Amino acid sequence: MKVTVVGAGNVGATCADVLAYREIANEVVLVDIKEGFAEGKALDIWQKAPINLYDTRTVGVTNDYSRTADSDVVVITSGLPRKPGMTRDDLISTNAGIVKSVTENIVKYSPNTIIIVVSNPLDVMTYAAHMTSKFPRNRVMGMAGILDTGRYRAFLAEELNVSPKDIQAVLMGGHGDTMVPLPRYTTVGGIPVTELIAEDKLNAIIERTKSGGGELVKLMGTSAWYAPGAAAAQMVEAIVRDQRRVFPVCVKLEGEYGIDGVYLGVPVILGKNGIEKVIELQLNDEEKQLLETSRGHVKEVMDALDNMSAKA
Ligand code: NAI
Ligand code: 2OP
Repeated sequence: MKVTVVGAGNVGATCADVLAYREIANEVVLVDIKEGFAEGKALDIWQKAPINLYDTRTVGVTNDYSRTADSDVVVITSGLPRKPGMTRDDLISTNAGIVKSVTENIVKYSPNTIIIVVSNPLDVMTYAAHMTSKFPRNRVMGMAGILDTGRYRAFLAEELNVSPKDIQAVLMGGHGDTMVPLPRYTTVGGIPVTELIAEDKLNAIIERTKSGGGELVKLMGTSAWYAPGAAAAQMVEAIVRDQRRVFPVCVKLEGEYGIDGVYLGVPVILGKNGIEKVIELQLNDEEKQLLETSRGHVKEVMDALDNMSAKA
């Protein structure tokens, strides 16, 4: 299996590293626009192979998409990260231009690939990649839900003093402050979380999860990369190994949850065809309202992108 990761920065290089050391692909091609940057990162990861004992060949290129030809999966991480004071949406015009040009190159050399978008604002960049590629929706998706549930699960594990492995959770909606964690679908070793934690503590964890990305931007001056890179690699693994894992993933909704044409995180089954199925949960009225708020926010940013493209 061949996987391309576009953007050899913090998230892209971390993703490539996880793909390599976990031998998720035979070959990982790292692409960046900065001369020599991807080459250097790929060489560093390859020189770790004899130490960490893996076979995956990592190769870096500067903007040479011919080297990415016939990739099974492509992860797009190219773009600016958030700086303190910026929202994900502030990145829209710059990153949309980058995502569109990268997608055109990817489609040219790998017309049958599956695209996983990571660049922010995530839901709208997934829209940009989908529109540009004209692929069926099962082959273009965004990574955010695994990261956001990862944060939620980590906070719960800490609060309950249990292993994060035993916390299962689903979260829906856009990647931003309007994301919709679902305590009703959160369990600890199969036990509903609401039986183990006081309501006020759970609510505080939900709020911390919603601003989890911002918390890290404040601490580090740039956005996170270990968990995001690993989350994208986990999606690649589910696809290349046809694992049929159930993850929250950003995809174009086509009538599910009563929403049409907006890109939102929902639980899906991920396998060799990409999104094998969108799972529709029975939401209660409060959850439906939260999802509607999130839909409205993402749609506004999609419209803002459309207006910018119309004026360009
Ligand atoms: P970074 O700045 O470390 O890396 C971005 C890389 O993209 C740079 O090396 C840059 O040279 C490269 N790049 C820019 N234009 C390019 C082009 N046209 N072609 C190829 N490469 C190009 O940023 P980082 O931290 O890796 O973040 C990447 C993106 O991922 C950001 O937009 C960030 O907001 C987003 N992100 C999304 C998350 C999610 O949950 N979806 C989580 C964390 C970050
Ligand atoms: C994150 O959630 C900024 O989207 C990035 O860490």
